[in-house]
Amino acid sequence: MTHIISASSDAISQAAAVIQDGGLVGMPTETVYGLAANARDGKAVARIFEAKGRPQFNPLIVHVNDIEAVQAIAYMSEQDMCAAQKFWPGPLTLILRRREDSGLSDLVSAGLSTVAVRIPSHKTARALIEASGVPIAAPSANRSGTISTTTPAHVAQSLGNAVDMIIADGASDIGVESTVLDCIGDAPCILRPGGITAEELSEVLGCTVQYDLGDKDSGEVKSPGQLLRHYAPRVPVRLNAIDVEEGEALLTFGPAQFMGMRGSGEQALQALPDSAIAHLSKEGDLYEAASNLFAMLHQLDLPEHKAIAVMNIPDQGVGVAINDRLCRAAKACKNNVSGS
Ligand code: TXA
Ligand code: MG
Repeated sequence: MTHIISASSDAISQAAAVIQDGGLVGMPTETVYGLAANARDGKAVARIFEAKGRPQFNPLIVHVNDIEAVQAIAYMSEQDMCAAQKFWPGPLTLILRRREDSGLSDLVSAGLSTVAVRIPSHKTARALIEASGVPIAAPSANRSGTISTTTPAHVAQSLGNAVDMIIADGASDIGVESTVLDCIGDAPCILRPGGITAEELSEVLGCTVQYDLGDKDSGEVKSPGQLLRHYAPRVPVRLNAIDVEEGEALLTFGPAQFMGMRGSGEQALQALPDSAIAHLSKEGDLYEAASNLFAMLHQLDLPEHKAIAVMNIPDQGVGVAINDRLCRAAKACKNNVSGS
């Protein structure tokens, strides 16, 4: 049985000992749960790849608590510092040039000369980083290619005994992963939409921050993760649904009273059992929808459902991140190759 322990100073000490010993800890963060290990310990990092079934060419994010710790592993420009001061601690990951003397395992950044770094705001994540005394490598705590996890129960369900201990600290607030900002090129660009929007970044950096989500046709990508099919439930996902087919479950956004069952003239909300409907946000609030997304995909991912029909989500603000995850879940992206 996986060891799930409620967050407390005792739990943090135990988890820090696991990390120092080369083990893996399910760590709550404000975005999603992470699978944490000592980023300096190559064997521990290798265990992350093994536990997730993750291809070794896909690098991990290193989590630290302050800017000094970032500067010990990577080089930061004035512009990087500007983004850091505004959005850290929080759901932003910066791709930076890795210092030659970073002390990190090469596997963390998959042999690249760059490294992904994030300062999380979640108090338990911060306490664990502090108590461990090392930079922490942490991808999302799910089997590669499956739905990310926002609760301790989902971590246990996804990773089972592959994780030594899980610190339980409720559901992750934001619910989608951090925004990945590439700071290497001439202009910063977003490699993965997430908790911080392009609009927010543009305002702070004083330039229009574009998305670079990879060339879906040529397979040319800047971030190895862009090659991968992510976030997939076991049952198919059908996007932009305007009605519900027999046997499908329904994931709603906004008022859903006009959704009908195809061919029956009946309203879906009356025709479907409660177990087949989940509401991302009845009010149409994109932040609420993001925080519910992965938990509700887990909830509807039942063998009795032939598919999950998802209503249209506006492609703006944090809706861009929600649609990115849904599009990958639906295998609607041409650049999907294998798991993440
Ligand atoms: O919110 C989050 O970011 C969560 C929590 C646990 O912090 N972590 C997370 O990690 O989502 P992961 O490993 O699932 O996603 C990291 C993404 C991948 O798409 C990976 O390809 C990209 O960041 N990445 C990591 N290092 C990179 C690098 N050096 N260059 C380009 N992309 C990189
Ligand atoms: Mg992930």
